[in-house]
Amino acid sequence: MSQPPKGHKVVKNPPIKDVGGLQAAMTEWFSREGRQYPWRATEDGYEILVSEIMLQQTQVATVLGRGYYTRWLELFPDVQTLAKADEGSVLRAWEGLGYYSRARNLQKAARHIVEEHGGVFPRSLPQIEALPGVGRYTAGAVASFAFNAAEAAVDANIARVLARLFDFRERIDTAYARKQLLAWAGSLVPDSGGRIWNSALMELGQHVCKSGSVSCHQCPAASWCRAAEPLLLPIKKKRKVQTAVEEHVVLAFRRNSLLLEQETGRRRQGLWKLPERAMEEIPDGAPVCKQEYTITRYRVTMFIHELKDVIARENERWFRLEEITRLPMPSPYRRAVDGYLSRQGKAIGSQ
Ligand code: ADE
Repeated sequence: MSQPPKGHKVVKNPPIKDVGGLQAAMTEWFSREGRQYPWRATEDGYEILVSEIMLQQTQVATVLGRGYYTRWLELFPDVQTLAKADEGSVLRAWEGLGYYSRARNLQKAARHIVEEHGGVFPRSLPQIEALPGVGRYTAGAVASFAFNAAEAAVDANIARVLARLFDFRERIDTAYARKQLLAWAGSLVPDSGGRIWNSALMELGQHVCKSGSVSCHQCPAASWCRAAEPLLLPIKKKRKVQTAVEEHVVLAFRRNSLLLEQETGRRRQGLWKLPERAMEEIPDGAPVCKQEYTITRYRVTMFIHELKDVIARENERWFRLEEITRLPMPSPYRRAVDGYLSRQGKAIGSQ
């Protein structure tokens, strides 16, 4: 068992022998088993940054299966195009992925690269980490995947793999643990480059050394692994419980227009949503429909009411139905509006 030394000092050398053998076994396994993703077929820093930012809070299947990655690169093929794009089209391309600050930061990063690096994607870890929205993990991932830099990148999958490999029985969500795992990860990266190594560790965490199940008989690192009970690792603080909240929004039509409100809060700023009204302003009667969604630690039940003679308030505007598809709108509202309009047989403009 790897205990932190007194005072929780970070140690550099990993508590296993024959790191070279482990590197070779992982590389050989990845060459056979590694999945083909579009971001594994490019060495373009920008294209890799886009994939990493999308994958920060979104599954590979969504990013790829629903076409977000390809569509984004068609709309914004390089930093110059993204830097010049209007914010509405950037948010619209991100719609459905949530956590919209990621899209805004990507655009800020593109502008930073144009202004500070003459439009050439920076190669060093500190320069990449200085980009808006880019933390230590993302910087390591981009530096290694794009430029094959020998840099560590520790995301949740890799942290789990390392905690098991080294039988690390400390909580992993502390500053000490993050530093320790990053130090070990750094000493495992082959000097020849981190592209394959980091991809292989990530692949192992996603498909073999998973959080709820392990396939140790298929694992290329099994002979090096010190975990006695891998499923008990890593140790984390308990998740916060979700809080249930209600939201009452209105579908207010005026001729062929719908009333929408522009978000001013930090999280979804600039996006358009159905306007909220207090319960007292909504006459009795069943809502036309109900939607449930989760945002941060809230489980929201959204009741949608059809309301007549509504007056627009601050940050609210009437939009013709054909304009609505072009507006950025968080998914729960988009589903509510589209569902309602299709049930009513009202036509909306095509994309
Ligand atoms: N999750 C985060 N980055 C990833 C990558 N490059 N490939 C697959 N899944 C990932």
